[in-house]
Amino acid sequence: MKKLVIFRQLTAYLILLSISVFGQSKLNVKKEFEFAAQQYEGMLKSHSDISKFPQSTLPDGSPRNMKSGWWCSGFFGGSLWYIYQYNNEPKWKETAHKWTMAVEKEQYNTRTHDLGFMLYCPFGNGYRLTKNATYKPIMLTGAKSLSTRFDPKVGLIKSWESFKGGYKYPVIIDNMMNLEFLFWAAKESGNKDFYNLSITHADNTMKNHYRSDFSSYHVLLYGENGEVLAKKTHQGAADESAWARGQAWGLYGYTVMYRETKDKKYLDFARNIANFYLNNPNLPADKVPYWDFSKVGEERDASAAAICASALLELSTYGGKDTKIYYDSAVKMLESLSTPAYKAELGKNNHFILMHSTGHKPGNSEIDVPLVYADYYYLEGLLRYEALRTKKKLF
Ligand code: GLY
Repeated sequence: MKKLVIFRQLTAYLILLSISVFGQSKLNVKKEFEFAAQQYEGMLKSHSDISKFPQSTLPDGSPRNMKSGWWCSGFFGGSLWYIYQYNNEPKWKETAHKWTMAVEKEQYNTRTHDLGFMLYCPFGNGYRLTKNATYKPIMLTGAKSLSTRFDPKVGLIKSWESFKGGYKYPVIIDNMMNLEFLFWAAKESGNKDFYNLSITHADNTMKNHYRSDFSSYHVLLYGENGEVLAKKTHQGAADESAWARGQAWGLYGYTVMYRETKDKKYLDFARNIANFYLNNPNLPADKVPYWDFSKVGEERDASAAAICASALLELSTYGGKDTKIYYDSAVKMLESLSTPAYKAELGKNNHFILMHSTGHKPGNSEIDVPLVYADYYYLEGLLRYEALRTKKKLF
């Protein structure tokens, strides 16, 4: 077993070595982070009130800001930490801390499943980079709050309180993204419950949320004993379609599952999801998907590309015959996002980095706009690319 793991790691290393020798990417991480810092300096100047979190652009072109209870409130602080991670300048540490603490009260929020996004992106990155002792108890309280949404009879974390049609236990694919936070909490607190419930949630999602082609439904409606009552969408084009960001959330989520458990079934599953995404005939040549895989020619979702790129870079480190495909595809996604087709001009785009994401098209909200989490996963992807390129540790 140990030999197999070493063999896999060696194969992955050799493939990545050959990529770095032979594959010349157009990506210039230094330039992109200098731009990100300049662009976000403008954002910080226009956001002196830390109770108004940068989110997107409204239809009239003005900035869309949200409160700390919104699922995206942690991404801005998280991005500030990524900028600090790259340039190591104290002023970014200070401002990242300020925007991280702005989300502090959400540690007690038991009405949302999104605490992984809201708390782990800012506090988790801050703790990783600074070991600031203030952050740890906040995250542990938050993990406890999140775990109250897990009903052992159902075997899943509940996403929302209800869903149209009278359903009482909706679970969305996005929920896979909260498990990384719970794995961290299990390690830091020694409380195995966080670990065990994450496994149960991921296994039930694997069993119920995916189709035979490894595309995912968006919303599953469960009964009180964990029976599946219906399979629907909320942000996708149709119940049976593949909503682009949902596919990216699942890919990222199962890649993390493998990282945290080393159970090969999650690695195989993540690879199958990646193959659905990358081999899809409706994926455009620049590898930035339409907002739903069934909606060729409609708006793109740059956020899905950014999430997918970051996940694929991690997946490429776990060996296997498709390592190079995952790595090259991720690099292509980051290259596309770094062109003027997706990257804003300095001072434009309400100071966000990326343009052309789609939040919720069927809800007529956030269509073809910047989104704070597109920027976050783009910066994360660039950092992961840089770590692999320079043969540093990914985490
Ligand atoms: N519900 C989270 C998302 O829009 O991806």
